[in-house]
Amino acid sequence: MTQQQPRQIGSDGRNLAVTPEQAESVWYRRAIDEELDATRALDERQLAALRINHPSILAYRSRLLGGRASSGGYAGWTEFLLDAYGPRRSCLSLGSGIGRVESHLLGTGFAPSFEAVELSPAANRCAGERDGRIGALSGDLNFVQLPERRYDFILCHGILHHLINLEHVLGQIDRALTSDGVLLVYEYVGENRWQFGSARLEAVGRAVPGACIRSPRRHAVRGFESVRSGDLLGLLDHQFGARCERAVGYGGVYFPFVVGADDRAMHLIDGVIRADEAAAQSGELTPCYHMGVYRKTGRPPARARAWSDEELRERLAPARPLGVRAIEELRRSPAGPTLRRARRAVRGMVRTIRGVDQMEPAV
Ligand SMILES: C[S@@+](CC[C@H](N)C(=O)[O-])C[C@H]1O[C@@H](n2cnc3c(N)ncnc32)[C@H](O)[C@@H]1O
Repeated sequence: MTQQQPRQIGSDGRNLAVTPEQAESVWYRRAIDEELDATRALDERQLAALRINHPSILAYRSRLLGGRASSGGYAGWTEFLLDAYGPRRSCLSLGSGIGRVESHLLGTGFAPSFEAVELSPAANRCAGERDGRIGALSGDLNFVQLPERRYDFILCHGILHHLINLEHVLGQIDRALTSDGVLLVYEYVGENRWQFGSARLEAVGRAVPGACIRSPRRHAVRGFESVRSGDLLGLLDHQFGARCERAVGYGGVYFPFVVGADDRAMHLIDGVIRADEAAAQSGELTPCYHMGVYRKTGRPPARARAWSDEELRERLAPARPLGVRAIEELRRSPAGPTLRRARRAVRGMVRTIRGVDQMEPAV
């Protein structure tokens, strides 16, 4: 079998793009460390300060997804869940972070409790302290095995775009749903590693004449951020498309703007959002965000194409300039922990002074 051929499900019992053996590699381990670092660096206050959580964007999302005039937080767009599907009995969240969405859904009475699987033990502690009804296990979802027909609600809020073994995970989700189960997906589905296409960048340029928006440098997008986001819509459609109950796409213009704009351009966000809505309605651009509600289909998962070790390295750790590599060596040295603390402190100060720094998560 060549690397380009799909791995046969059943030939080795696995349907994986990356194997557990490859997950032991230095590149994969480094991405894990970067994910854990990113989770440690963001608390509730810092999340609220991210550009992606700008009040105009939250109001736009509420209006588009929930039909509400304006609302912060999750209330504006998750209300339909309780009306259409609530309350649920047995709920699972994948990549629950610090439990923001879960605690909201517990508060509305939609869910009685949440089981969860999340990489970061620190985030899990935080989620449990926030609400004792969130019971999160620490683990790597790329290799998750879920119990069959166990959950009547599964939440994927900003996690699938961090995963590599998407075919496997989507198959596991379908298997774990009860026959009346519901899957809610809210994800970044734009270009892998935020390497925006020219049509998208031109659309931003038309919305904000004079703005020069570029994709971030590839090596600057760390961890598993958006590692296969470009494949997500197709794979969701394969696994769940036959039983899709709601699907909304948007963010094709405002997301690259938010990632690439200078802080001083942020006052132009309302014009960018108008362009975003026009693009979403006309379908002229593929979306960067997708919200979907799906039911169990029982379909066999799509077949995963195995990544070679070279592909794993190239995707997770593209060549970094010399200066960046030197800093990374320093981080791995005994002085690493002190440097990390200093970096966090400087970042905190930068956020306080300027709002937020350039690279931020997609959710
Ligand atoms: C963008 S955050 C979203 C967190 C949360 N769902 C929210 O919306 O606040 C992505 C989360 O995925 C977790 N994560 C990343 N890769 C993972 C993996 N391979 N297995 C489990 N969790 C992972 C990170 O630790 C982080 O908490």
